[in-house]
Amino acid sequence: MYPLLLTPLSCSAQPVKTTTCDCVGFGVNGRSGCESLWLHKETHFEYVQRGRYMIDPLQIIDRYYVSDSDAERILLAHSTRVREKALAVAVRVLDADPDLDFIAEAAMLHDIGIVRTDAPQIGCTGSAPYLCHGVLGREILDAEGYPRHALVCERHTGTGLSAEEIRREKLPLPDRDLLPVSLEEQLICYADNFFSKSSLSLDRERTIDEVLRRLGRFGAAKVATFKAWHARFGA
Ligand SMILES: [Fe+2]
Repeated sequence: MYPLLLTPLSCSAQPVKTTTCDCVGFGVNGRSGCESLWLHKETHFEYVQRGRYMIDPLQIIDRYYVSDSDAERILLAHSTRVREKALAVAVRVLDADPDLDFIAEAAMLHDIGIVRTDAPQIGCTGSAPYLCHGVLGREILDAEGYPRHALVCERHTGTGLSAEEIRREKLPLPDRDLLPVSLEEQLICYADNFFSKSSLSLDRERTIDEVLRRLGRFGAAKVATFKAWHARFGA
């Protein structure tokens, strides 16, 4: 489905009882155990039935977006650029064994929640503040049965948002850390910073200086996080 499918689309489907939680982990790409993936049993079995690493992001998007609408066009254009960037960056850290198939899927879905926000400039006529698009995306993908992808949605704003920051700034978000944790979440978040959803600049990749200047409006900690990612992921 994607140009960079370097790992087999397979799940061993042999349940491995973990010792640290009640979840059941499955071998992932030849590894055993949950790794960064902690899923409750019911959801996990549903995942396997659906073919966890063979989901079609476009089919999911189709269920929430009016076909050929501005919102869908902008979402697909932006998400495709983020997917390409995230995969291009991921192959620079293959030693860390990034899950490229998951990155391809989750990058296409990371902004699915924008459809429920009030952002008419990008064709979205929902009622929620735009800032909520990550948690709204998580709700959508949780309901679809993709909790691992759902976490990418709510953990990709800027360089992520801490619970402390959400409380301090009185942001209209849940009181929990919304920070990218896994390598895949960080790669998608890093890549997302390079692209706007403005219809005037969908295809334009921001320079590093532009990314840092933009993040600087939200504090030095954001800049420091991005610089650390860039030192690891950047060319
Ligand atoms: Fe995005």
